[in-house]
Amino acid sequence: MVTYRIARIPGDGIGREIISAGSKVLERAAELNNFNIKWDDYDIGADNYIKSGELVSEDTLEEIGKCKAIYLGAFGDPRVKPGILEKGILLRLRFHFDQYVNLRPIKLLDGVDCPLKGKKPEDINFSVVRENTEDFYVGIGNRVKKGRSKDELSVVRSLYNVKFNLDIDTEGSEIAYQLGVISRKGAERVIKYAFELAKRNGVKKVNAVDKANVLSDIYSLWREVVEEVSAKYPGIEYEFNYVDAVTMWFVKNPEWFKVVVAPNMFGDIITDLGAMIQGGLGLAPGGNINPEGISMFEPIHGSAPKYAGKNVANPLATIWAGSMMFDEIGKPAAGKQVMDAIQKVINQKKTLPQDMGGKSSTSQVGDAVAKNL
Ligand code: IPM
Ligand code: MN
Repeated sequence: MVTYRIARIPGDGIGREIISAGSKVLERAAELNNFNIKWDDYDIGADNYIKSGELVSEDTLEEIGKCKAIYLGAFGDPRVKPGILEKGILLRLRFHFDQYVNLRPIKLLDGVDCPLKGKKPEDINFSVVRENTEDFYVGIGNRVKKGRSKDELSVVRSLYNVKFNLDIDTEGSEIAYQLGVISRKGAERVIKYAFELAKRNGVKKVNAVDKANVLSDIYSLWREVVEEVSAKYPGIEYEFNYVDAVTMWFVKNPEWFKVVVAPNMFGDIITDLGAMIQGGLGLAPGGNINPEGISMFEPIHGSAPKYAGKNVANPLATIWAGSMMFDEIGKPAAGKQVMDAIQKVINQKKTLPQDMGGKSSTSQVGDAVAKNL
């Protein structure tokens, strides 16, 4: 029997509870499909950072690199300044393993309450393919005030002074900047993934998101690449959508969308909106995918420190993320079985978590899904 070594990183807050519920489901599904999972546990996150000062070491990354995939909970802790764990661990993992696709299904399951009046499961069923390594996430930026080095001042002056005539040498004036970067290769690979996904699913249109009417340097390259890639997919059309308009249409006409491809930051924003129209963050999974490498699966919600240790969080997003992991490692039958079991538990209405109007605990919901496999 084949054994898959999977790195398991619960992280902070409710991470431990949801990953434990998810693991049980995945172990049972593996058993039913004649393969084994061997978990490689990594205790990285806030506790470890506070104790040791370390976020994630090179050695750890190397070890994780020997695994088939990564199953991840959530990061974020009130004891640690915002951004440290998110950038130092979550984004570090995404970048290190070059997981250039962040695949986020926006799918309203049958029997789930939708905040959009009159919308049914057949109206809300699409995928957002979020670019996951570039754009405003590249980490190039700074705050510059008087007294900074001459080099830095001259860089900033060349970027901004020309346009705005800012007098940054004057006491009391300060500017901050953050650069968005898109590479032709980086855009190409994620846009190609979106078109391939459309082709695989018999979808006839890809919606490409940007803000090319204002951020015209960065997103004109994005558009050019969409046009070039689409030329290789004759049966599939594309449409350019401005991100502000997309937020409106996700709410008004979600049935228009099947495959959406978006730059990193806009993809981040519109998938939180997507999570709401599919019934809430408790039901929104994501896969950080490197089709040629090691992919990582997680719920898109955060660590919800308020609920940590209370066994009340909804584990369904995490279980769903596990189903995506099975698809990606070449076990789609097991993946489908997990999804079917989630759907059954929702339809039975007996064992629902609190955020879905039920009374069941995290572990009870996980056990119910495992039992329904
Ligand atoms: C997400 C999160 C992360 C992101 C944060 C925690 C760095 O919001 O996965 O969507 O911005 O990508
Ligand atoms: Mn986000």
